[in-house]
Amino acid sequence: MSTESQSQIALMEKIVSLCKRRGFIYQSSEIYGGCGGVWDYGPLGAELKRNLRTAWWNAMMREREDVLGLDASILMNPAIWKASGHVDTFADLMRECSLTNKRVRADHVEPQDGVVMKYHGAQAPNGWRWERAITALLKNGEHIESFRKRVRSLIAQNAGAAAGKPEEIELLGEEKIDAVNGSIDFHPETGGLLGEPRPFNLMLKTYLGPTATEDDVTYLRPETAQAIFAQFKNVFDSSRVKVPFGIGQIGKAFRNEVTPKNFTFRSREFEQMELEFFIKPDEAVEIISGEVAQWHEGADLSQPQPNWGWQMWHRYWVAERTKFYEGIGLGDVLEYYWQTADDLAHYARACVDILCEFPFGTEELEGIAARGDFDLSQHQAHSSKSQEVFDEELKTAAAKLTDEQKEALIQKRLAAEQAKTKGEPMPEAEVRAWFDRLFKGNYIPHVIEPSAGLDRMALAVIAKAFSETEKVDDKGKKEVITVLRLHPRVAPIKVGVFPLLKNKPELVAKAREVYALLKKHMNCFYDETASIGRRYARQDEAGTPFGVTIDFETLGEKGPELADTVTLRHRDSGEQERVKISDLLGKLLPLVS
Ligand code: GAP
Repeated sequence: MSTESQSQIALMEKIVSLCKRRGFIYQSSEIYGGCGGVWDYGPLGAELKRNLRTAWWNAMMREREDVLGLDASILMNPAIWKASGHVDTFADLMRECSLTNKRVRADHVEPQDGVVMKYHGAQAPNGWRWERAITALLKNGEHIESFRKRVRSLIAQNAGAAAGKPEEIELLGEEKIDAVNGSIDFHPETGGLLGEPRPFNLMLKTYLGPTATEDDVTYLRPETAQAIFAQFKNVFDSSRVKVPFGIGQIGKAFRNEVTPKNFTFRSREFEQMELEFFIKPDEAVEIISGEVAQWHEGADLSQPQPNWGWQMWHRYWVAERTKFYEGIGLGDVLEYYWQTADDLAHYARACVDILCEFPFGTEELEGIAARGDFDLSQHQAHSSKSQEVFDEELKTAAAKLTDEQKEALIQKRLAAEQAKTKGEPMPEAEVRAWFDRLFKGNYIPHVIEPSAGLDRMALAVIAKAFSETEKVDDKGKKEVITVLRLHPRVAPIKVGVFPLLKNKPELVAKAREVYALLKKHMNCFYDETASIGRRYARQDEAGTPFGVTIDFETLGEKGPELADTVTLRHRDSGEQERVKISDLLGKLLPLVS
């Protein structure tokens, strides 16, 4: 293993340990040995997630006029998942270890070097026999004896009590088959030969109703997006909105990931924050505005314009989401991956993955896809309920077009259909029928989908904030101090409030007063135990950006001009300033919200 990967693993271990120690994230069901790929958020983690959720909700909805919220159920009619394509295609290719039946995602197998070893079977003194061939990788650098021990123990685990003690198992007919370099045919943990890749649907099945038969099967939602599509018409009809507009929601999603890994990064239960932003088809924009704005480097994305088609809206949302990440302190760890034509689904026009630097590599934080009208069209086809909207402005503009202008639009679309490199071109009759409806003001909206994961976001901000510094105490002893430099907006505790001494009732009473004043407006932590330095250090480790110390100056003992002032300590700069208690709230509130 390279030194870089070792230090990445060490950093990740420190982060996981801090998360447990300070109450950010715990393993689910830990007292029973855990529950694979599922995590619980402790007191600080719950606050952190809440702050991230609020930041997303405010940026995507409250501060805008064109996005509405939704809070849909996790369980839905399974027909939704058939229409969306999840029942048939939401699968990862997985491979199974021939020794242990452990599964791994086919694309998660790292290349390995070594010698392929084969046995024709195994037996134990109690008469137990393994009648199948055993093929496993003797990894480069691994001693043959420790390899044999590993294989014995793996097949003993698989056989259970029947095989007896692993050390008594005899491996039969050992053969060295081949030396391999960069092989992806062996399980990364067990070294056992992997079976052929097979699709594995990621949806978690459950039963709805007391009979629990196959007719009652439904799924825990694998994404929040589909409920938005399924409720599109209700929101549209009940909210007096016009396209373009968006519907956003935050909620749990579940995926039976084959190999959950990297702490909370790939979990089986997680939370998504998704926006479906509905826009007019480009043809409608062209009819109304006479043109569709083309994106170019440096294009002005600050204010949405009536002549924006899908491309400008897609770029706009990439820019908006980037601003959001900058606002929570992740601006300098982002990268963008623009999916290629090969990566894209047949209906998608573009998709950019916003990636973030994690200790285990640069990985996806959010995807922003231009999905055309695929989703609403699928629901219209499967439910037989119209998902079209009527646009008066479009009808009026279309009525002014000449027949030649209309035919030119149709010909342009037919040419685009023929030029498609993926999926079937729409037949001419369907194109003409679609334009007939469009010229009367009717269309199914297209959609831009920024889809973010809350747990990944929480992990990203913790990983970005994690830092260690070495301090030497009064006795010359070195100590490594962890400081979590969380952005004040997302930090679980905003302010630590400390009386300098706990045995001075006047200091304690004043500190309690300050605590009560701030607590109504932000999450604060009152602490009177240990030295003031130790208390600062505890809050630094929890990511608290500010500390307020009530000292003798506050009581007016060092002169009346300092009475009712406190020391305000800034975690990141270490700067300390004197602030009047009456000014404290006004100073802190803009910094934390
Ligand atoms: N509706 C689109 C959609 O669900 P996705 O790329 O599959 O797209 C969107 O998921 C986001 O949800 C991802 O960028 C990621 O942040 C989060 N996410 C997906 N699977 C996850 C998992 N197993 N664990 C944690 N977060 C996950």
